[in-house]
Amino acid sequence: MSKSYNIAVIGGDGTGPEVVREGIKVLDAAASKHGFKLNYQDFDFGGDRYLRTGEVLPESAVEELKKFDSIYLGAIGHPDVKPGILEKGILLKLRFELDQYVNLRPVKLYPGVSTPLKDKGPEHIDYVVVRENSGDVYTGAGGVIMKGTPDEMAVQNMIYSRMQVDRCLRYAFDYTRKRNKKNTLALCGKTNVVTYVFDLWERAFHEMGEAEYPDIKREYYHVDATCMWMVKNPEWFDVIVTTNMFGDIITDLGAITQGGMGIAAGGNINPEGVSMFEPIGGSAPKYTGLNVINPLAAIACGGMMLESLGEDAAANAIEQAIMDITANKLKDMGAGKMGYSTTEVGDLVAEKV
Ligand code: IPM
Ligand code: MN
Repeated sequence: MSKSYNIAVIGGDGTGPEVVREGIKVLDAAASKHGFKLNYQDFDFGGDRYLRTGEVLPESAVEELKKFDSIYLGAIGHPDVKPGILEKGILLKLRFELDQYVNLRPVKLYPGVSTPLKDKGPEHIDYVVVRENSGDVYTGAGGVIMKGTPDEMAVQNMIYSRMQVDRCLRYAFDYTRKRNKKNTLALCGKTNVVTYVFDLWERAFHEMGEAEYPDIKREYYHVDATCMWMVKNPEWFDVIVTTNMFGDIITDLGAITQGGMGIAAGGNINPEGVSMFEPIGGSAPKYTGLNVINPLAAIACGGMMLESLGEDAAANAIEQAIMDITANKLKDMGAGKMGYSTTEVGDLVAEKV
């Protein structure tokens, strides 16, 4: 009997379900070509369900999702729901409860895709950000006093434990080794100001690197300088490891250098548990149902999901197919500007796979 995997599908809001549909088309093509099977189960979490029922995530959701091999997510975000409710109630809740402690975000310029960086091409923009995904200000620790008065004071803490730092670094070192390109891991921080937290990161980084990864070169950049070099000399980077908030910020910068939100993929990874793959772009509600949105980010996420399941050959086939389509078919990566519809792009990639 051939291998099979159970995938929970959360299409989500806006154009999420449309791009996920194309992703599944491509995943199925890759699965049948490479001799495994994917079984999908849909979950209707998102803005519409919340507006209908008042419930963001049902009590049972996390336990239910833990039974799957992976989660494939479209987009969360609804124009009629106050910002923060769905993000915190679904996206961040799943990341935390499933302990997806790494957010893996490749920054790769595919051939034929235009970048706002002058004189840079695919040979210059090809690195991966390992964003820590469980700590930092995202834990919500902090509070407010004397709210609404002139003396109001608010504090939100950047929190890291040695355990959180070590497990993220271990993933980053292993990933750099497996990637085997420049074998260079750069820590992105702010050791000159956020001294307590980055002293912890820096010591952990060098201790682990020295003892266990002597084959991996270690570099350090302040986060502000990282932004500068991501624009000026992106070819310097191989793998960057950083904290949750810095990682959030620098990966939007990275995404725009690789052609924007239509193309940027990411994975929330629990190496010992259930991971969740989601395009970095949002739900793009104004394009809902028009069949114009670019599904390549979602399709690339499908490839990352297969890689995490150990189906490297199929994952690679998806990436090669995407590169073939960006190089030879699509005119532009923007919604409505591709020269093809959403479903046609899915067909092209699936055929190529
Ligand atoms: C991201 C998003 C989320 C984050 C928001 C929507 C909570 O910006 O996935 O990068 O900050 O992590
Ligand atoms: Mn973000």
